[in-house]
Amino acid sequence: MSNRQFELRPHHERVVALTGAGLSAAAGLATFRGPGGIWDENPDLEAAMDVDRLPENLPLLWRVWGSVFEKALIAGPTPGHRALAALEAKILTQNVDGLHQFAGSHDVDELHGSAAQAVCLNHECQWRAYLAVHLDESRDPSDPAHYGIPHKCPACGAPTRPDIVLFGEMLPTGVLEHSENATRNCDVFLAVGTSNTVAPAALLAPLARACGAVTVCIDPYADSARLAGVFDYVVREDAHTVLTRWADRRLREKRNPFLDPF
Ligand code: APR
Repeated sequence: MSNRQFELRPHHERVVALTGAGLSAAAGLATFRGPGGIWDENPDLEAAMDVDRLPENLPLLWRVWGSVFEKALIAGPTPGHRALAALEAKILTQNVDGLHQFAGSHDVDELHGSAAQAVCLNHECQWRAYLAVHLDESRDPSDPAHYGIPHKCPACGAPTRPDIVLFGEMLPTGVLEHSENATRNCDVFLAVGTSNTVAPAALLAPLARACGAVTVCIDPYADSARLAGVFDYVVREDAHTVLTRWADRRLREKRNPFLDPF
């Protein structure tokens, strides 16, 4: 790993960004690990996010992931989300808050599902629906009706659930393959606001490096020693500061192609 600071340069055209909870922390959404991480502070809550706890954990799933949906709806995207959209980065996100799409990113793979959608508990059933933006405050946030979602699937009668990948579950069909393909074909692979601890997302940076991309971790609290074997660079800065600097420079480069790259 280099000790030199990495900066995005004009020839870094194909940028892929794997994003995590640290990017949305500035929108008021909690991280899971590291300073203030909700899993670190409440291991029982993390244990309840296991697929084997279905369907008993449904009220808790609605409360936890419905809260993410509500907070994201109110807060909107952060400067980092907007900068990644301006950089036209291909987004591989572990986040379920939809903030990349709100910020204008068009090419987004949601590896862990979406808090904005509900699906049927019955895997054979294709029913899905978007949560309502006008919430029913007369219903508790642990009740799907709070989000305008029926308790039972209208198509098959099974219970409804948030469209979130739980621990022990497979990722949505095709999403991982699509993300791996983008990872194999990029110039720069950014890991932004993620602890890089949860597979298969955590396997993407090594894949990018093996395919010749420059790999960069952006995390002010990063454990550089642990990450040295995976990333060419570890930028221990706030993601919003770094990404906004890069997006501003790229905009100036586009307006003035003769701008000295550095
Ligand atoms: N800029 C960059 N990184 C930041 C910032 C910031 N401003 N603030 C915090 N971070 C870093 C933290 O230091 C931490 O390393 O973001 C990282 C967040 O790590 P996690 O909380 O583990 O979140 P994430 O990596 O997204 O978790 C992956 O685990 O529980 C599952 O499904 C859940 O998608 C989640 C997955």
